[in-house]
Amino acid sequence: MNREKLYIFDTTLRDGEQTPGVNLTVDEKVQIAKQLERLGIDVIEAGFAVSSPADFEAVRRIAKEVKNSTVCSLARAVELDIKTAWDALKEGNRVRIHTFIATSDIHLKYKLKMSREEALKRAVNAVKLIKEISEGRAEVEFSAEDAGRTDLKYLCEVVEAVIEAGAQVVNIPDTVGYAIPDEWYEKILYIKENVPNIKKAIISVHCHNDLGLATANSLMAVKAGARQVECTVNGIGERAGNAALEEVVMAIKVRSDQFPVYTDIDTTQIYKTSQLVSRLTGVLISKTKPIVGDNAFAHESGIHQHGVLECPETYEIMRPSDIGLTESKIVLGKHSGRHAFKKKLEEMGVELSPEKFEEAFKKFKELASRKKEIYDVDLELIIEGLEGEK
Ligand code: KIV
Ligand code: ZN
Repeated sequence: MNREKLYIFDTTLRDGEQTPGVNLTVDEKVQIAKQLERLGIDVIEAGFAVSSPADFEAVRRIAKEVKNSTVCSLARAVELDIKTAWDALKEGNRVRIHTFIATSDIHLKYKLKMSREEALKRAVNAVKLIKEISEGRAEVEFSAEDAGRTDLKYLCEVVEAVIEAGAQVVNIPDTVGYAIPDEWYEKILYIKENVPNIKKAIISVHCHNDLGLATANSLMAVKAGARQVECTVNGIGERAGNAALEEVVMAIKVRSDQFPVYTDIDTTQIYKTSQLVSRLTGVLISKTKPIVGDNAFAHESGIHQHGVLECPETYEIMRPSDIGLTESKIVLGKHSGRHAFKKKLEEMGVELSPEKFEEAFKKFKELASRKKEIYDVDLELIIEGLEGEK
């Protein structure tokens, strides 16, 4: 399979920071950006420079200090936003301005109070202004906000016009997480096949998770031809959040048979990045969160534990080491069997005769029927409590 590169655009520091209750300091944002650079992110959206002095400073410092990822600022399609974004970015090496305007009728009527023609003109002028102000140094990304609910023919007109004006990346956001995977696939394919100059730009998608479909929609878009996916670490973001970076990246890796693309993400940095973002944002990770949740590599039932100890692939489709963890977690509980119990004792350096092993296992099962999870200290107490020679 001839694989094309899939660009990973991380917006943890912009859309992710829009999570209710999250407020990162400039230093914390720089720390996360450096970890995102280690992770191999192609484009880091560092903030929305015009929105506050702190956001401006975060974009400025990240643009200056991050060398191996493109650094980006969001800007509405208005002059002040674009000039401010450029001021924040100009000391950087590889930089991008991400300008946007809403294109759905509902947003045009109630939010912007603008006609379709006027919005198209604003979009084109914004793209031209970025080129002019940065003298071609800033890459240009254009987003048609609420593209998911935008009339498709009009959306294609807007996309064609901004490409003609010089946009290198055209982002199709499902701003309110309304799309359904096969419908989203058709939409991206339609854009690819009906915008005359689409080959001059990269198609990007930005999916929100209101119906729990952000990852599925992003992956379907890749199948249809999108070559940039926008996402956040742990899927944080407005309302139900954005497509989770770790889910998109690991799905592309684990099911490489399904996608003709590769990413440059160093997946062994995923767990560390996830923990850092959780700690600094205060947004806890659910135990059952795919890839990075506490239980993602934990096996509780005896049948599963036996299988995994014999051959991990019986119940694991990826290895913990793929995301930077050392090993799967065998959780001892009431469903655990002799295999897991023996392995745990070996790890603790405990050797028992076959009779004592059976006695200890019986005690462990009794305790496990009353207690949810069994810790090392519980086992130590069981071993200490065995009578006579061990
Ligand atoms: O969800 C959205 O539409 C956005 C845009 C600014 C890209 O975040
Ligand atoms: Zn968004």
